[in-house]
Amino acid sequence: MPTTFSPICIATIAELRSYLAAARNEGRTVGFVPTMGALHEGHLSLIRKARAENDCVVVSIFINPMQFAPNEDIQKYPRDLNRDLQACSNVNTDVVFAPSLEEMYPAPLDTKVKAGKLAKTLCGVSRPTHFDGVVTVLVKLFSIVGECSTYLGRKDFQQLVIARRLVDDLSLPVRIVGCPIVRETDGLAMSSRNVYLDAAERSQAPMLHQALETGISCMRAGEKDPAAVRAVMRETIMKAPSAEIDYAEVVSAVDLSIPKPLNGEIRLLVAVRFGETRLIDNAGYVIPDRP
Ligand code: PAJ
Repeated sequence: MPTTFSPICIATIAELRSYLAAARNEGRTVGFVPTMGALHEGHLSLIRKARAENDCVVVSIFINPMQFAPNEDIQKYPRDLNRDLQACSNVNTDVVFAPSLEEMYPAPLDTKVKAGKLAKTLCGVSRPTHFDGVVTVLVKLFSIVGECSTYLGRKDFQQLVIARRLVDDLSLPVRIVGCPIVRETDGLAMSSRNVYLDAAERSQAPMLHQALETGISCMRAGEKDPAAVRAVMRETIMKAPSAEIDYAEVVSAVDLSIPKPLNGEIRLLVAVRFGETRLIDNAGYVIPDRP
C-alpha cells in the first residue's frame, strides 16, 4: 500500500499565501491544479503529474460563478468536499485550497479580465461570457498561488489554449502544462457533468469520441477539406438519437483558426447536448508534410 497523507485544507487567501511563501523559502517548487471539485480520474491524473514534477502540490476547489451564465444551473453542479479531500489525500496532495464565495468575491468585481479572439469561437459561441469568467478566476488564482507550474487538461482544449495565451499576454509567472484526456473504457471523456446523463443518454455519449475517430480516419485517408471532415463527424454524432450538435469543428491546435486546406497540427472538437447536459470532447492529429 502506498503511504498517503491528509492534505492541509486552507480556506483563506492570506493563509495559502503564507504557507506557499514558507514552502518557497525552503526552495520547494509549486505545482498547481485548479478545479471546481467533483474530482474524478481526469482531475487525479493532473494531480499525479503535478506530484511527480513538484515539491509542493496545491489543488484548488472553487465553483466559479463568473464562468456560469444565468441559464446554466450552477446550483446543480455536483459538490462533495469530503469526498474530494479523500481523493486528494489518495494522490498525496499537500494543500487543498477551498475558498468560500465571499473569500474569492468579497464584492462584485469592478475589474475583470476579458478573453479575446480565442474565446469567440467553438464553446464561446453558445457560452459568450464563459471564458471571461475563466480567465478572471485564473488570474485571481495565479495571483494567490504565485510562481508555479499549472496543470490543465486537454479535455477543455479551448480553455488550455486561452490560458496559455493569458499567461503570455499578461506575463504571469506560471508555466502551463497540458495533460492528456482521461476516458472511460467505452471512450467517453471523464467529466463531472457525466452524472447528469440518464441511462439512454449515457449509452449514446461515447458517440462524441467515435466522431473524433472518424474525423481522424478521414484526414488519415488524405482529406484536407475542413467541411468534409466536419460532415463525417456530424454524421457519426447523428447516429445517437438523443444528440443535438452544438458544434463539430476542425481547427488549428495553435490558434483555433480553420486552415484551408487543413495542414500542420490540427484539433478536432465537438460539443453535443443530451437533453440539458452539454458534453465536449476533442482529439489531435498532425497532417503529414507530403511533397
Ligand atoms: P474543472 O472542470 O473542474 O476541470 C479542472 C481541470 O481538470 C481542467 O484543467 C480540465 O481540463 C481537467 N479535466 C477535466 N476532465 C478531464 C479529463 N477527462 N481528462 C483530463 N483532464 C480533465 O476547468 C475547470 O474546472 C475550470 O474552468 C477552472 C480551470 C478550475 C477555472 O474555474
